[in-house]
Amino acid sequence: MAGFWTVHKMSNLLKVFLVVGARPNFMKMSPLYFELIKEKGVKTSIVHTGQHYDYEMSQAFFEEFDLPKPNYFLGAGSGTHAEQTGKIMIQFEKVLSKEKPDLVVVFGDVNSTLACSVTARKLFIPVAHVESGLRSFDMTMPEEINRKVTDAISDLLFTPSKDADENLMKEGISRNKIHLVGNIMIDSLITILEKIDKSYEDRILQKFDLQKEDYVLVTLHRPSNVDSKDSLERILNFLNNLSQEAPVIFPMHPRTKRNIDKFGIKLVFNKKFYISKPLKYREFIVLEKDAGFVLTDSGGIQEETTYLNLPCLTLRPNTERPITVTEGTNELVDMGNIEEKVGLILSGKQKQGKVPELWDGKTGQRIARVITGHNNGGYC
Ligand code: UD1
Repeated sequence: MAGFWTVHKMSNLLKVFLVVGARPNFMKMSPLYFELIKEKGVKTSIVHTGQHYDYEMSQAFFEEFDLPKPNYFLGAGSGTHAEQTGKIMIQFEKVLSKEKPDLVVVFGDVNSTLACSVTARKLFIPVAHVESGLRSFDMTMPEEINRKVTDAISDLLFTPSKDADENLMKEGISRNKIHLVGNIMIDSLITILEKIDKSYEDRILQKFDLQKEDYVLVTLHRPSNVDSKDSLERILNFLNNLSQEAPVIFPMHPRTKRNIDKFGIKLVFNKKFYISKPLKYREFIVLEKDAGFVLTDSGGIQEETTYLNLPCLTLRPNTERPITVTEGTNELVDMGNIEEKVGLILSGKQKQGKVPELWDGKTGQRIARVITGHNNGGYC
């Protein structure tokens, strides 16, 4: 063990906890898990907070990635931010006090990320943050608070791109804690793309009655878009109209579905406006790679579309992933200009992009090298 561990580690076996809770965490954890279990001196355990609990939002991903059942399940479930964060902290503290890992690795920007980094750090257990340094500079987003707090207290900060390094250094974080490793979500994307063959692809397109590159894939779940009746109704009306020009497929997040029911929104949906429950990762990736374009408010999908060189319209006033706009195929839109942007794409005038540096499928390896002390310099 070298580097970080000459300071932090006493014994020879390194006990690493990988913490996940919500859907986007699973595809960020999986590549690192499979790298770490190759290492002899490392005991890797998975902790699932239970923030997401529906089969499609959680267990389906473990099955698809061939991940083992989590070693610890905290059963947090839903609630207000404080309730959810508090429940996770109380349960995680019990596990940490008993098991005393050497390192807790957290991913992304969800409430589980914040809850577990704070809990570990207060027990003097080192914390590593994967997907560190992203900033929307919008403190009305719960995720921005989660990112800033987690980064401020982490010992190892793994960033996907140079802009993230700069954000961290502007916040006074020491350069030697920061490791530019690339985008781990792209590792999972590359792995799953290799597993998709033509017959599976045809089957999925047929299942949803879609033709390649001839439809729009939509995902929307941000509170700013779906938590008010006016906003949600306006968006659904827009999509319903759009589906007269091109089929629209909308795998719906539970938050969005719940709000449609809660607000009593009753639309007469066009024949070509398909709403489905959340999809399995492999199914979703087929629909994404074959779409004409994507309309989303998700973080990860902005990155996946940039990698796939697919036009992406992000219905948000800002993004914590600016590289998808400056280098990739992503554009920010609002309800005022969305029609015009869609029109441009439908008439073939789409934005061109390139794949950012280090989005190459090897991010999990680079992180594992730093964690195990085998990194010999270079990018990391
Ligand atoms: C969370 C993350 C968000 C991420 C998203 C991905 C935070 C603050 N937000 O948002 O950054 O983009 O996950 O999906 O952590 N629900 C279910 N079943 C589930 C999970 C949720 O029905 O398996 C419903 C519940 O009614 C719940 C609501 O969705 O109250 C919201 O879930 P929550 O985890 O609080 O936030 P997300 O909107 O999923």
